[in-house]
Amino acid sequence: MASDHLVCVVLAAGKGTRMKSRRPKVLHEVAGRAMLGHVLDSLQALDPARIVVVVGPDMPETAEAAAPHPCVVQGEQLGTGHAVLTAAEALADIAQGGNVLVVFGDTPLITVATLRRLVDARAAQPAPALVALAFRAADPAPYGRMLLDDSGRLTGVVEAVDADAAQRRIDLCNAGVMLAERKCLFDLLAKVGKDNAKGEYYLPDVYRLAYRAGLHGAVVEASEAEVQGVNTQAELAVVEAEMQTRLRATAMAAGVTLTDPAAVWFSHDTALAPGVLVEPNVVFGPGVSVGEGARIRAFSHLEGARIAAGATVGPYARLRPGTELAKGAKVGNFVEVKNARLGEGAKANHLSYVGDAAIGAGANVGAGTITCNYDGFTKARTEIGAGAFIGSNTALVAPVSVGAGAIVGAGSTITRDVPEDALAVERNEQQNRQGRAKRYRELKRKTGKAAGDTKSKDG
Ligand code: UD1
Ligand code: CA
Repeated sequence: MASDHLVCVVLAAGKGTRMKSRRPKVLHEVAGRAMLGHVLDSLQALDPARIVVVVGPDMPETAEAAAPHPCVVQGEQLGTGHAVLTAAEALADIAQGGNVLVVFGDTPLITVATLRRLVDARAAQPAPALVALAFRAADPAPYGRMLLDDSGRLTGVVEAVDADAAQRRIDLCNAGVMLAERKCLFDLLAKVGKDNAKGEYYLPDVYRLAYRAGLHGAVVEASEAEVQGVNTQAELAVVEAEMQTRLRATAMAAGVTLTDPAAVWFSHDTALAPGVLVEPNVVFGPGVSVGEGARIRAFSHLEGARIAAGATVGPYARLRPGTELAKGAKVGNFVEVKNARLGEGAKANHLSYVGDAAIGAGANVGAGTITCNYDGFTKARTEIGAGAFIGSNTALVAPVSVGAGAIVGAGSTITRDVPEDALAVERNEQQNRQGRAKRYRELKRKTGKAAGDTKSKDG
């Protein structure tokens, strides 16, 4: 049930100049998905009545990534308080007593559990008017500090640039996330000024205004790792590492064996069944699922692939989008598969390219087989029937089919369909010239060009 009592505002208007990238900051990816996507996902789990994303002008890609959630445009970036005010109209119809949850689009590790703790804190009796999320910082230098009175009540937040020496010693910092009753929040925000070091409308100024008005602000704490924001490429890497740690732990808790967890890279949506074994140095791009007992061997790269139970991939395999491996199928070293299905027990074990193809159950694709799926203009399909055997170094020039049970001789270039159970061989007849090798060597010796000849210039 969507909660009428909760709406969310995601701040994502910042240009992120310190990223030194043309891409809007919140569209930088963590575990294969935009930071904004992670944040929206966590908010969605709270089932709010609405999520509004605050974007900057000329950020069509951010608005696209936010869809279907509505966006409001903050014309000028005058601060986090100003950004939230931009969303006021989009939330004007929200019922009396409803809550607004404000989060940052550049803080993708925030968990649903923590957001729920804010919601629960607001529901306590007597209910606080506002709830702030805070954390203990190892190095509080860049953050806004939480100011508490003698009885531990939140009296305000002072930004790092505005803090005095005593305030700078405080290590309890503002994470930026806030939950407040809608009307109360916008009434307070209307009173926020910009008389500060940055000349900005600070969102956390509402805590001070609330305290002065006799309103209670509660503080919920999270770990520093969870509220790590991304301002630079280096911080993006820190967040990626933390996300990978989480994904690895989740996989292992679900019964997946990771020989060396730190050497396996996941996407946010990697789905591994219990009993899957993943060797070191494996990268999962988006859209991979792996069935029970399958084995993903070292140095393989997979994306957009569905792998059934008991299949084996790698070592050194590359599975690209549209790959489907049925039960017990095998894709071995230096094999690339794209938009292709290998049926039950089918094998492509060595040095092959299998693209835009269907390989029947139990078929064997020999070493060096290439499906020639592209003629420079269009892509065409290759069909290989169940139990067929493709000899090594075969070129299958698509569109082409090899019938069930057929055999293709090694080194063939197949341009016409091969019927079921037929043997197709396409190569020149071999000629054996008696004694020619010996005569060749003798000739070379006479002219001083024999292999191993020390006088030979190019030896
Ligand atoms: C903010 C907090 C600080 C806190 C820190 C935690 C304020 C004034 N300060 O500082 O107390 O310790 O986060 O990381 O809130 N944004 C807009 N429009 C704007 C300005 C910002 O949408 O006009 C967005 C940014 O895109 C970003 C978020 O708000 O997603 C936070 O802004 P940022 O400038 O990074 O705030 P900090 O200086 O880090
Ligand atoms: Ca920040």
